Amino acid sequence: MPSKNELMRRLKMIHPVIQAPLAGGGDTPELIAAVGEAGGLGFIGAAYLTPQQILEAARAARTLTARPFGISLFAPQPLPDPPKDPRAALECVAPFYAELGLPPPQPPAVAADSFGEQLAAALEGGASVFSFTFGILPASAIQTVKARGMFLIGTATTVDEAVTLEGVGVDAVVTQGAEAGGHRGSFAAEFETAMVGTISLVPQVVDAVRIPVIASGGIMDGRGIAAALTLGAQAVQMGTAFLTCDEAGIPDRRPRRRPSVPVPERADAAAAQRGSQTGTRGIPFAVGGSGCAVGAASAGRAVRRTTHPGDRRSHSRVGNAGLKPAGGTPPHAAA
Ligand SMILES: Cc1cc2nc3c(=O)[nH]c(=O)nc-3n(C[C@H](O)[C@H](O)[C@H](O)COP(=O)(O)O)c2cc1C
Repeated sequence: MPSKNELMRRLKMIHPVIQAPLAGGGDTPELIAAVGEAGGLGFIGAAYLTPQQILEAARAARTLTARPFGISLFAPQPLPDPPKDPRAALECVAPFYAELGLPPPQPPAVAADSFGEQLAAALEGGASVFSFTFGILPASAIQTVKARGMFLIGTATTVDEAVTLEGVGVDAVVTQGAEAGGHRGSFAAEFETAMVGTISLVPQVVDAVRIPVIASGGIMDGRGIAAALTLGAQAVQMGTAFLTCDEAGIPDRRPRRRPSVPVPERADAAAAQRGSQTGTRGIPFAVGGSGCAVGAASAGRAVRRTTHPGDRRSHSRVGNAGLKPAGGTPPHAAA
């Protein structure tokens, strides 16, 4: 791993790993705190939260850790025009409502634009970093965030978007490759044009802007982190990998059984060579446990995977404290 770069110094990160904002509930206060305590930077994806929920989430994270964390919103969008005649759509879904014994469907109310109140709550909650996606913040919002001394991060899916974001004064840019899970924030390009893979997009953005670049999209372990840093990124932002953590707010309908049975480390290395065996979108060495896997992943070390009988999910038990795979450095270890 490189010694601390500019971004790591500014964000007080020990490891160049950011847990992506995971709007929808994946990013629990426990996850955010665990990532911060392990030396990464946790994020609250607050876009779907009410101002009150934003404050509660931020305060809950703050009670669990004194480490920095970030908060993220969607840039305000123009409200869509409601359909002139919603009857055809309502007729289409009506049989399902009837089947479930629900009252007949009604046209949904147009959501009120609550960005202003969300932003006010996000600034109050104790986060030191603010990020946004799906566009550009209004100039007044950028000024407000900066006046609070918060580090400001925008999200780009093309070189042009990154240059535009730099032009409006963001402090760093998340570069989201086509592989990115969840919310992918294209805003100035057609969908097809913006489908550039992480490994192609990151070096192009690094060459085009002067601000730090954060690579995102399909990065799952130490190999991906090392590759992103080699391409010129100063950190990575990982989403899907963190969804597999015990602390993530992902419902697990399968019973958890303890004690877990460690998989032989040699088998782990072989599995890594073959690619992923189990887990969300194929994560050979999931980041998880008590968050310390941030360190293990960024150091390119093996994260010991354990299996639970009858549970095909890949859990991680961190090998941060000197875990060495049998037979020396695993083939996936890098940096
Ligand atoms: C469930 C989920 C929710 C997400 N929500 C947000 C969000 O609210 N704001 C944001 O900037 N990115 C969001 N993202 C995208 C991440 O910032 C990140 O770019 C992406 O997860 C990277 O790809 P990966 O999942 O392959 O690591 C989300 C991703 C996932 C998987």
